[in-house]
Amino acid sequence: MGAQKNEYMLEMSGISKAFPGVKALDNVELKVKPGTVHALLGENGAGKSTLMKILMGIYEADEGTVTFKGKLLRGRRNVRETMDVGISMIHQELASFSQMTIAENIYLNREPGKGLFVDDAQMNQDTIELFERIGMDINPNTKMRDITTAYAQMVEIARAISLNADLIIMDEPTSAITDKEVEMLFNVIRRLRDEGRSIIYITHKMDEIFKIADEITVLRDGQFVGAKPISELDSDQIVSMMVGRQLVQLFPPNEAVPGETVMKVEHLSRKGEFDDISFEVHKGEILGIAGMMGAGRSEIMSAIFGITKPDSGTVTVNGKELSLGQPKEAIEAGMAMLTEDRKGTGLFLGLSVNDNIGMPSLRDFVSKGLLSQTRLNKACEVQIEALRIKTPSGKTVIRGLSGGNQQKALLGRWLYCKPEILIIDEPTRGIDVGAKYEIHKILCDLAKNGTSVIMVSSEMPEVIGISNRVLVVSQGHITGELQREELTQETIMKYAAV
Ligand SMILES: Nc1ncnc2c1ncn2[C@@H]1O[C@H](COP(=O)(O)OP(=O)(O)OP(=O)(O)O)[C@@H](O)[C@H]1O
Ligand SMILES: [Mg+2]
Repeated sequence: MGAQKNEYMLEMSGISKAFPGVKALDNVELKVKPGTVHALLGENGAGKSTLMKILMGIYEADEGTVTFKGKLLRGRRNVRETMDVGISMIHQELASFSQMTIAENIYLNREPGKGLFVDDAQMNQDTIELFERIGMDINPNTKMRDITTAYAQMVEIARAISLNADLIIMDEPTSAITDKEVEMLFNVIRRLRDEGRSIIYITHKMDEIFKIADEITVLRDGQFVGAKPISELDSDQIVSMMVGRQLVQLFPPNEAVPGETVMKVEHLSRKGEFDDISFEVHKGEILGIAGMMGAGRSEIMSAIFGITKPDSGTVTVNGKELSLGQPKEAIEAGMAMLTEDRKGTGLFLGLSVNDNIGMPSLRDFVSKGLLSQTRLNKACEVQIEALRIKTPSGKTVIRGLSGGNQQKALLGRWLYCKPEILIIDEPTRGIDVGAKYEIHKILCDLAKNGTSVIMVSSEMPEVIGISNRVLVVSQGHITGELQREELTQETIMKYAAV
């Protein structure tokens, strides 16, 4: 069989791209057939997002060519041009405009018009139809700021579909959505594929690869490792292509010995979010909070930490009742929280990796009233090493790091603070297979050293793997409490689906 001219919808060849201090891509190729789902895989910092940004025209490659539907695309091109030829991308970092409605966000810059005015009714109708196609039911007039990360992600997907693209790039689309939505998304993807469209799918979740991908391409440290149909591979082979070594994918032992009660939450309620939440947290335990997306887990945590104000109930830390809605008091009482929306509430994108890590501990680096940047940098570099954060140096601005590496830096922060109570929402979202273990190890170590870790997670294996105890939340209520010995997917699901 000779090389057919139109065998591939997309051919990227010999792509190289350097950033100051990093060779992000080195002679990489990616070939995608029409009507296929092509998974693009690799560890954090491997170059996946960069390759996709080159495809979109966000970055210009230093070398290499991009051929789409038989036509060579210009190296220097803008996103508009790329979208016009039929390629569309859902970004890893959501970039929606929070004050706009869902419909406005989807039809931004191409609103259906009535003369000079936007035809709102038409736009809302179009949005509803679009949502129907993907099985989503939400009012198009809702403001973006009022929806959860999961819904924002679905809105992005709806937008890409509305553009009727032949090739849709999804960069970790399911990182913020749980099982039910994932099924919904996969159904949409299959429908698009059957229409002859192609999807480039980036994920760190192994089970998804086997569910949805037809072919894979693996990158490692900016290099092309290989491309194969999924039918020729098993999960171990894929992992070793990704990490370049065999990996025993286990959870670290949780040696924590839970002690006395350090925190008591009693009858906490917030209208429309959760109702009558009561539980205790012990010293040095990992308390898993399981449940489906939208169950109210993050809302409960935000209220406990004081980001939102509950209508009633109490939070008591070490015998002292906190004033509600006062994060400052929570912090003073020894609490720290890492939210699921890192970009909105966690990262300082314009600051260096070191400053992001050292931020809450700056006091530790002050002597005689002066901040010692040298000491701060030294201490942070230890963390960078320990977490294997891929960055040219600690002084690099964090915006330039890959998504997963930004995440690791945020985690590094809590290693210093050694808070008494750490609330952490989806700790390994967007983290590659190799680094997940490292993060679980950190959480186990924190617990062993006396920190109480409250871990909200939608990943069952993780909840089961490292929790001492698990609370299951469903529709704003705690529906079950499980001890370590009782933890299985089935027992958790039984309570989560109440
Ligand atoms: N704008 C930028 N400036 C400087 N360096 C960058 C920039 N964008 C990416 N890099 C670097 O290029 C490398 C590849 O990053 P990229 O975001 O493509 O990784 P990735 O495979 O998408 O990782 P992840 O799974 O964590 O999202 C990283 O070392 C990153 O720090
Ligand atoms: Mg990425």
